[in-house]
Parts: sequence; structure tokens; C-alpha cells
Amino acid sequence: MKRIAVLTSGGDAPGMNAAVRAVVRKGIYEGLEVFGVKYGFRGLVNGDIKELKLGDVGDYIQRGGTFLHSARYPEFASEEGQLKAIEQLEKFGIEALVVIGGDGSYHGAEALTKRGFNAIGLPGTIDNDISGTDFTIGFDTACNTALDAIDRIRDTASSHDRTFIIEVMGRNCGDIALYAGIAGGADVIVVPEEEFNIEKIVEQLNVRRARGKAHSIIVLAEGVMSGPAFAAELDKHGDFDSRASVLGHIQRGGNPTVADRVLASRLGGRAVELLLEGKGGLAVGIVANQIVENDITDVLKNKSQIDHRLFELSKELSI
Ligand code: F6P
Repeated sequence: MKRIAVLTSGGDAPGMNAAVRAVVRKGIYEGLEVFGVKYGFRGLVNGDIKELKLGDVGDYIQRGGTFLHSARYPEFASEEGQLKAIEQLEKFGIEALVVIGGDGSYHGAEALTKRGFNAIGLPGTIDNDISGTDFTIGFDTACNTALDAIDRIRDTASSHDRTFIIEVMGRNCGDIALYAGIAGGADVIVVPEEEFNIEKIVEQLNVRRARGKAHSIIVLAEGVMSGPAFAAELDKHGDFDSRASVLGHIQRGGNPTVADRVLASRLGGRAVELLLEGKGGLAVGIVANQIVENDITDVLKNKSQIDHRLFELSKELSI
């Protein structure tokens, strides 16, 4: 094999640049020519492809976002789009592809492999909602960004005796809420995977107030409901002077943490090794600090699970 390509797709995540850099540098180290595809699968279909040299990925390891740009491109589910993409790849003499993104991007990589073109997926999303890996690229940075916001909001919550609902990202996955919530000492964490009862939450807040703690921090995953809707719900049940703070896309940006840069580098390096072994249709991940690879179809079939024990611990610690 002589030529491979790499693309980033779906929502950007801090550490995607570090992953692209790893694919490019490891590829060149192994004697390959590495091409970058801009704007994910949309750019692939349109032939927005160019060779990346060592210097093209210099000074990017520390940057959030993705210098290759990204796009959400549901049209890639069509046969027409996939055949066009393979035609473009063949035109450039590219023989295999690394796809960095979330589950939508994995579907694209799976489709290409099924059509005989080797593609490997790397988990790049802040949501941490990919099975077969303990962590996704960008998750740690997003949690640290959310944590910084929680710490700051706590100052105001305690100064004014208020209840704050901090809405964090995570469409169907409560991992950002769980990890940032535990690290931020949240009093209540609400995630889509675990049932919640507003009366019980009110009771818990009242018990804390009776004990003399007049402010509370609730970390809520966006997949449950919006922060303002949750605050309104809470205020129907008592006078909490609650305020909602929606963190939004601030969680997607910023310099990746050490954990994300190292994870991205390890995953990117392994993806190139697998492609050199002639393998495709795999998703690379990290489990118990070991780099692993799984069949991408299995990864797509299995829903990632919240760490139920960690969730229980969060409740035990916030009595
Ligand atoms: O998948 C990452 C994510 O940031 C989710 O947490 C969020 O629900 C979604 O993307 C937002 O997507 P967009 O940036 O396309 O509005």
C-alpha cells in the first residue's frame, strides 16, 4: 500500500487535530503518502482532497477544532454518495481511509468497507457515546471545560443562595454530566440513562437547606430536557430561586487536554498499523488503558452504557 487518507466528520472534538497529525506522521514514518480530506464525507464525495506533508500537521497538536474542517452529511447513507466517494479515492490512488468522528461517521466507514474499500474508525466526539472504547477523543477536554464553568458558577450559587441548573452537552449520553458533575461536586446529576424524580430531587434539596446549605448545583445532560425547562419544573415545587446556565458549544472548543492528545496520538498510530496489515471495517478504541480494535458493525450495534456504579457513587457522595 502506498497511499492512505484521513478525514474528520460530524461534530468537531478537541484532539481531532492530534489524531490527524498522528495518522499523517505515523503514515509518513511507515513510508506512506497521506492525504487529508476536507469537510468529512461531503469533501470526499466532492474530491476535496490533498496530500499532507509533515509540516502540514505541525503546530496543530494543541489546537481544538479540526483543521481539516468537518461536516454533518447524512447524504452519505446513499449508494450514489458512497460510489462517488470510492471513485474519488481511486482517482487519487488512495487505498485506505481513516475516519475520525462519532457514530454517524462510523456508518460511513462501515459502508465503504462493505463496498470493498478499507476504512477504520477512530472515536472523535465529546459525547463519549461510542461502544468498544472507554473514552472518545474530546471527552476529557469537554469535561474539563464544563468543570471550569461549574466551579465558576458555584461562586455565584453560594454567594446568592441559589440553585443552579447547569446544562451540559450529550445528546443521548450522560457521560459529560456524570464526570464533570462528580468532579465539580454536584449535588444532583441528571442523565438520560437513569430515571429521575423531580419530587425526590426537591426533597433532597430541602434536606440540604435544612442542614444549612442554601445553594445547590444540579448538572443536567441536554438529552434529558433543557436547563430552563428543568429550572421551571423545579420552581413549581418550591422557592429555589433557580437559574439555568446552558454551556452549549463552549464545550466543543479549546485546547485538548493531555489525556485527549495522548489518546488521539495512540489511536491514530494504531489505525495506520491496522491499515498496513490490510485490515478495514474496524473501530479502534481504548479499554483499560490498552488500545483495542473491534468490528465496526459490532460497535455500531452495541449502545455505549453509562457507568452505573459511578452514577450510584455520585448519589452516595452528594447526600
Ligand atoms: O455530538 C456532539 C454534540 O456536541 C452533542 O453533544 C450535541 O447534542 C450536538 O453535537 C450538537 O450538534 P451541532 O453542533 O450540529 O448543533
